[in-house]
Amino acid sequence: MFEIEHASPRVGTIVRTTKADMLKGTYADEINRLLTERSALVFPEMNFTNEEQLEFASTIGKVFLVAGEEIQKISLDPKVSKVADYTRGAFFWHIDGANDDVPAKATMLTAKVLAGDGQGDTMVANTYAAYQDLPDEDKELIAGLRARHTLESSQRMINPDPTYAELQRWQAYPSKSHPLVWHHRSGEKSMVLGATAYYIEGMDFEEGKALLCRLQEFATQPQYVYRHKWTVGDFLLWDNTGTMHKAAAYPLDSNRLMLRTTLHGEESIS
Ligand code: OGA
Ligand code: MN
Repeated sequence: MFEIEHASPRVGTIVRTTKADMLKGTYADEINRLLTERSALVFPEMNFTNEEQLEFASTIGKVFLVAGEEIQKISLDPKVSKVADYTRGAFFWHIDGANDDVPAKATMLTAKVLAGDGQGDTMVANTYAAYQDLPDEDKELIAGLRARHTLESSQRMINPDPTYAELQRWQAYPSKSHPLVWHHRSGEKSMVLGATAYYIEGMDFEEGKALLCRLQEFATQPQYVYRHKWTVGDFLLWDNTGTMHKAAAYPLDSNRLMLRTTLHGEESIS
């Protein structure tokens, strides 16, 4: 069984299939194709165990270790996650590993504990679709532009008044220069934006900030965004290469817990 239902015309698809087929990789090619086309795929109440999540992940790519772990606990509780502080950065539109040489191909979450009603939804924006719809003047304007992506930029959003030691820790992480437009091997183009984009290289700082803000506002209009309202056991998989994503706000003392696996990047941004 493999039935799909699009959540909206441009982004997000609900997939109904069996756990057995997910683990065997029966529809792995189909899933990989849909992932790029639809940005976000939901497998309702798949209820994967950790082992099953990893088994499925390896049918569509290679599992990427984050801090040596195949599965990360995504939680704001420092008792549960060593990087609870950084996790607050997920409240802002971002690309996972935008500061890495080759950003993750895809990220997947299984919902274990939910935040309150209407809180902690996960949102994925299709930046292929947004790029397609950009007015021609904007396509020309951004064709040759590059942004500098830094950890400082995303961390400032959750800690706008850092100590010097904190700032030095952020700045110790190498920054990356990325084009605003990603020319994919497929020939398609998407936009590279998000919280890590600090400034536009070679452009007046404020003018660059205004452009980044305007493009991000354009790319996150409702027609490009899939918003997932979680049920425990849901499995959400998103393409990390032609999208941005974020968690809708939820309380800092929430017990919300997601188990996350990331796939090795296969294409550098160019
Ligand atoms: C992530 C992430 C969003 C969420 O795990 O990379 O951004 O809704 N998560 O928890
Ligand atoms: Mn993320």
